[in-house]
Amino acid sequence: KGYSLTGAPDILLLTDIEEAMAGHTVGRSIVYFDDVDSTNNVAKEFARRGGETGTVVLADGQGKGRGRLERVFYCPPGKGLWFSVILRPDFLPKDAPKCTLLAAVAVVQAMEEFGLSAGIKWPNDILAGGKKLVGILTEMHAEIDRVKDIVIGIGIDVNFQPEDFPEDVREIATSLAILKGENVDRTSFLIAVLKRLDALYAEVMRKGFGPVLEAWRKHSVTLGQEVQALSQAGEGSFTGIAR
Ligand code: BTN
Repeated sequence: KGYSLTGAPDILLLTDIEEAMAGHTVGRSIVYFDDVDSTNNVAKEFARRGGETGTVVLADGQGKGRGRLERVFYCPPGKGLWFSVILRPDFLPKDAPKCTLLAAVAVVQAMEEFGLSAGIKWPNDILAGGKKLVGILTEMHAEIDRVKDIVIGIGIDVNFQPEDFPEDVREIATSLAILKGENVDRTSFLIAVLKRLDALYAEVMRKGFGPVLEAWRKHSVTLGQEVQALSQAGEGSFTGIAR
């Protein structure tokens, strides 16, 4: 009577991504690796050699995924989305950290498209049910008054089950698949995030960061909470309400 397809391997479909992102700035060019040390390292190298704005460096797995504060970020093949976007904006270096907030908003909006809700913990961890599933690492190359390039690295735990996480983060990490109760197609989710990034970045170029900050506030789980701030200048710490 014929055949039925009961499953398909979850591979990243480069041609689908390229087709979906044609005509956009973010994703106009995709550089794909099966395995790489860190997409942020590769993207920074590309940027120094003149890689154009909007270029996305994507890997199926990363051997040395990097997190903020020199932490290690676990990025096994086949389970997540590990990618970095090169941008060459014309705003001042002091505005660069806001790109991190932009990226967090883009991922949360893409999750909403997939029927999932999440909050953003200052500055850019994405949490659901108090557990983290997305990390963002933004790095900048600048002169004192001019941004040369910004690399936004985004890591999303897509099809992890609890046992797939290293033991030390198992209790505090989650994934799109755990939240949804079924696997999520990585190619479709990546396209959704890239389209959101493209639209938000275009809005920033037209109107500044106001609308992005407003969207960030809407999703923040930090504002209104008691927080402890640690001074990097050695002045100790103080607590207060995050406004
Ligand atoms: C964090 O939570 O501390 C940030 C994690 C950022 C991970 C992403 S994965 C893609 C890109 N390449 C890296 O080496 N890091 C970022």
